[in-house]
Amino acid sequence: MGLVVAALAVLPACGVAQTPAGPPPLWLGVSWYPEQWPEAQWEQDLTLMQKSGVRFVRMAEFAWSTMEPAEGQYRFEWLDHAIAAAARHNIYVVLGTPTAAPPAWLTEKYPQTLRVDEDGSVAQHGNRQQFNFTSPKYRELSAKISAEMGKRYGHNATVIGWQIDNELTRESYDAGTRKSFQDWLQGRYGTLDNLNARWTTSYWSQTYSSWSQIPIESSKGNPGLLLNWRRFDSDTWRDYAKNEIDALRKYTDPKQFVTTNVLGWGQMSYDHGEVAQLMDFISYDDYFPQGEVDLAKNGSDDDMQRGFKGKNFWVIETQPAFVNWGGINQTLEKGEVRALAWHNIGHGADAVAYWQWRSARNGQEEYHGTLVGANGKPVPVYDEVAQLGREFEKAGPALAGTQPTSEVAVLHTYDSFWAINLQRHSKDFDPIEELVSYYKPLKALAQSVDVVAPTNDLSKYKLVVAPGLNVLSDAAAKNLMAYVRNGGHLVLGQRSAMKDDDNALQPQDQPGPLAELLGAHVTQFYALIKPVGVDGEFGQEKSKIWAEQLVTDVPDVDVWARYSKSNGWLDGQPAIVSRKVGKGTITYVGVWMSDAGMKKLTEKLVAMSGVSAAFGPVPEGVEVNPRRSADKTVFVLVNMSDGEKTVDAPRLMQDVLQGGDVKHVTLPKYGVAVLEEAAGTSRSRASH
Ligand code: GLA
Repeated sequence: MGLVVAALAVLPACGVAQTPAGPPPLWLGVSWYPEQWPEAQWEQDLTLMQKSGVRFVRMAEFAWSTMEPAEGQYRFEWLDHAIAAAARHNIYVVLGTPTAAPPAWLTEKYPQTLRVDEDGSVAQHGNRQQFNFTSPKYRELSAKISAEMGKRYGHNATVIGWQIDNELTRESYDAGTRKSFQDWLQGRYGTLDNLNARWTTSYWSQTYSSWSQIPIESSKGNPGLLLNWRRFDSDTWRDYAKNEIDALRKYTDPKQFVTTNVLGWGQMSYDHGEVAQLMDFISYDDYFPQGEVDLAKNGSDDDMQRGFKGKNFWVIETQPAFVNWGGINQTLEKGEVRALAWHNIGHGADAVAYWQWRSARNGQEEYHGTLVGANGKPVPVYDEVAQLGREFEKAGPALAGTQPTSEVAVLHTYDSFWAINLQRHSKDFDPIEELVSYYKPLKALAQSVDVVAPTNDLSKYKLVVAPGLNVLSDAAAKNLMAYVRNGGHLVLGQRSAMKDDDNALQPQDQPGPLAELLGAHVTQFYALIKPVGVDGEFGQEKSKIWAEQLVTDVPDVDVWARYSKSNGWLDGQPAIVSRKVGKGTITYVGVWMSDAGMKKLTEKLVAMSGVSAAFGPVPEGVEVNPRRSADKTVFVLVNMSDGEKTVDAPRLMQDVLQGGDVKHVTLPKYGVAVLEEAAGTSRSRASH
C-alpha cells in the first residue's frame, strides 16, 4: 500500500460530517488558500478541483494571522468549514504549520523574533520568512500555534497529514545565533586549541583565544568555519522543525503523517537529509523557473529525495505551466506539465501537487501559474492536469506499494557540495553539474539510479559512482574501502577526497585514504579555460573546466586514458585509471568529458560491473523508470524527445493507461506509457 493509504484506513472520523472516499495510491493535489476568499466562493473552487481529480489540498501554511489574529485569540471556525467542505468534495487535507509567515502582532510585540541578515539589517513584516530560526521566543510561539492546530485537527479523518513550516530557509546572523554557533562549535571541538589546530587559525592570525571571538559568515571566512556554519545551519533547522513536530505529536493521531517541503538542488544552504530524518517521508518543491527542463538534473534531484529515507516522496509543489519568480517566466510546453508529473512518479513520487489552485486577488505572487484564473474559470493547463487526475486514478492501483530500486548508486554529500562550491577555483565548476554528468549516462543505461550518502549500506549496488566526494570523512572512507574489498565497483570522480572533515586539505596524496587501494594518486589539479585533449579507450575526447594529473604507484593499475598535448604538465599523463581489487574495482576519473565521452566511459563501467538495464534499449529521449514491489514491476515511460518514438517492450506487458497487452508503444512528444508485468519476468533482478 502507498505511503499514506495504509495509515488512513483506520483514522477515526470525529468532528466531521463526511470523510472522503478511500485515500488513493497516487495523489493529485493543489495548494489552496480559503482564507483569501469569501466562504461563498469555496464551493465553485472545490467543485472544479473535484472535477479535475484533485484528491488533496494543502492549506493553512500561511494562515497564522487568520487563525490567531491576536495573541492567544484563536479563530479556527473558517478552517473547520474549509476542511468539511473539502471532504464533501472527496478531497483530503494536508495542513501546514504557519510559521513561515508570522503575523504582524507577533514580530511587533517580540522584535527579537525577527531575522537579522548578514549585513546586519533586520527583516521587516510584510513579506515572509522574516523570523529568526534560533529565537527561543519564536520557537515557543511556533510550538504553541502548532499545538493548538494539533488539538483541533489531530484526529480529523479528512486531515491526512502535516507540513512543517514551508521551505525552511534564510538563516539569521543575530547575536543570539552567533552565540548558539559558538556553543555548537565548543560541543564539536571541545577545546579552542583543537579548533585552532584543525582550522589552522594561525593563518592570517585568525587564532581564537575565546569562543566569543568566533564570527558567523556565509562565504568569505576560513573553510573550516564556513563548512561548520552550514552544518550548524542544518542542525538548527532540524531542531526548529522538531520543535513543531513535538508540539503537534502531543495531540495528533500517529497515523497522520508529518512531512516538510524542501527545494532540492534549488536551495542548498542546509542539509535537507537531516531534516528529512524527522519526517515520515520528505516532500519537495520541483520548479522549472524559466520553463527549461534538464531532465537528468531533475531526475537526480528526485532520486536524492528518495535517497534521504530510502523511500518514496511527495512532489508537494510544482508549477502549473509557469512561475512568477524566474528571470523570464516562460511556460512549460503543452503536454510537458503532465509528462513531468509522470517523470516524478517514475522516480518515486506518490503525489504531485500544483502551486497554486488560483492567485489571491492581491499579494506578491499574482502572476504565478495557476489552474483557474482570476475570474475563477479554468485556465488552459487545467485540462492537462485533469487528464493527469484521471490517469492517477487509473494507474494508482498498479503503482500502489511500488518504488524504484537500483543496481547503481551515485554518492552525494552536502559537505562536499559546500566545500567545492565555497572554493570553486574555477567559477564554472558546479558540483551539481559534475554529479549530473555521471548521473545522466547512468540513468540512460541502467534506467534506475539511487542517489545516496557514502555512509549508507552500499552492499546491494553493483556499481557505486562518487562524482565529487571532496570532503571524505573517515567513516565514508572505511565504508567505500569495504565496498570494494567485498567485490563492489567504485568510481571516484574529479576533486575526490581533497579535504578532511574540517574542510582542511588531506595530508595524504589525493584521493587521501583511498589512494593506497587505488594504487595511484593525483599529483596536480588544473582549472581549465580551454578544454584539453584526452586519448584512450574512449577514443579522442576532451576534458573541460578541470583536469587532474594522475600518477600510478603500483604496476597493476590500468591507464584507461591519457592527456594529449596541452599545457605541458598534462601532456601524455594518465587521466583515468582503474585497478582490480579481488572481485571489485576502484576507478579514478580525473577528467570532465563531454556527454558523448561520459557515455562511453559509463558503458564500460556498466559492462564491467554487470549492471543490466531494467527494461532494455529505448529510443533516445525516452526515459524509463522502473517501480517494483515483491509481486510486480511497473515501468513509467516518458517521451521527452522532440518527436514521436516507438518503444519495443522486451516482453508482452500490460498497458495500464490504454488497456490491453502490448509488445510496443508509440509515444508522441511528451507521451507517457505505464507498462506492468508480473514480477520475475523483468530482466533486471535489482534487489528490493
Ligand atoms: C515556493 C513556495 C510557495 C510559492 C511557490 C511559488 O515553493 O513554497 O509558497 O511561493 O514557491 O513558486
